[in-house]
Amino acid sequence: MWPLCLIVPVLRNYYIATKVVLQQLLGRSFLLPVLPQHDGKVAIVTGGAKGIGFYTSKHLARLGMHVIIAGNNETDGNEAVRRIQQDTLNEKVEFLFCDLASMKSIRNCVQNFKARNLSLHLLVNNAGVMFVPEGRTKDGFEAHFGVNYLGHFLLTNLLLDILRKSGTKDFNARVVTVSSATHLNGQLNFDDLQSSHSYSAHGAYAQSKLALVLFTYYLQHLLTEEGSYVTANAVDPGVVNTDLYKHLWYPGRFVKWTTGWLLLRSAEDGATSSIYTSVSPDLEGIGGCYICNGGRTKSADVSYDMELQKKLWIESCKMSALPVSA
Ligand SMILES: NC(=O)c1ccc[n+]([C@@H]2O[C@H](COP(=O)([O-])OP(=O)(O)OC[C@H]3O[C@@H](n4cnc5c(N)ncnc54)[C@H](OP(=O)(O)O)[C@@H]3O)[C@@H](O)[C@H]2O)c1
Ligand SMILES: *[C@@H]1O[C@H](CO)[C@@H](O)[C@H](O)[C@H]1NC(C)=O
Ligand SMILES: *[C@@H]1O[C@H](CO)[C@@H](O)[C@H](O)[C@H]1NC(C)=O
Repeated sequence: MWPLCLIVPVLRNYYIATKVVLQQLLGRSFLLPVLPQHDGKVAIVTGGAKGIGFYTSKHLARLGMHVIIAGNNETDGNEAVRRIQQDTLNEKVEFLFCDLASMKSIRNCVQNFKARNLSLHLLVNNAGVMFVPEGRTKDGFEAHFGVNYLGHFLLTNLLLDILRKSGTKDFNARVVTVSSATHLNGQLNFDDLQSSHSYSAHGAYAQSKLALVLFTYYLQHLLTEEGSYVTANAVDPGVVNTDLYKHLWYPGRFVKWTTGWLLLRSAEDGATSSIYTSVSPDLEGIGGCYICNGGRTKSADVSYDMELQKKLWIESCKMSALPVSA
């Protein structure tokens, strides 16, 4: 028998997902307004080769942005670049290797980007893994925590000086971080952030998505304090029909495979909130929001706990070998 501590996160995740799917089916989905052109502006989208990230990248390219897809699969990345160039007639789309499961790879990626001497107006922290079997990143962090959260924590911090230089009073640079309704289930287990004592894939995914919301709010707090022209917001894309579910336990995967196209949001629809948060003038200069269906929504109560945000931030600086900047 599975112990209760492993079953509860699964049931709670399925409960939340079912609720969101029903809301999606019964409600009207958010339609993107006409968005302004962004010619000459530069964006990095992690995990932009597939799923939500692909459609986010494509829309940004359509708006004239120079889009850099940061990903861990060169073949997929180059194929996505080719398709986006073909569909949007924007040549300024490229792939940059970045394996978020390796701090060395993240540092290399930033170094390669900096060597280009480009500005950076937008960073979309989109890449993610879900319900993967127990595993570790190159640096020994639990896979969900390491890839979804800590990798993006490091990447953002390393790119922050370029974002600060690129943002202006009338055109703030933006950090957009893709979380999930699953964060409502999340608990930060500070005694065992890496799930070494007991591993629940559902618990670990939820924890990583809550960590991303806490990170977003605290980042916004620091940016406001220092008065820089950069904003940070979190996005909830809904329940979306992508490859993210490939590690789901078999019966669930079968249901998703057979009915997903009908019941879930398409990847293109799933990208609308990310796109809106990335470029809408409605959010000019506005940070610290949780955006769902193109509107500001309340995130989990615990995500507003500034003590917790700060504790996680300091811990994350240490884990990613950054000077503590809280
Ligand atoms: N789909 C949903 O229902 C849903 C709901 C809520 C939130 N989200 C969030 O939305 C975001 C996008 O997910 P998606 O649904 O579009 O899934 P997806 O199609 O699987 O896309 C995820 C992307 O992240 C990349 N990635 C995974 N590990 C990486 C690593 N170590 N380094 C760099 N890139 C890596 C993947 O590349 P490879 O596959 O090549 O590794 C892929 O390009 C995720 O953060 C996810 O948590 C999705
Ligand atoms: C890249 O993705 C393709 C499938 O899209 C897969 O066949 C290939 O093995 C992947 N390459 C790496 C290095 O993971
Ligand atoms: C980098 O760009 C700035 C302006 O964006 C320019 O002044 C500088 O000369 C460039 N440096 C290099 C090495 O290209």
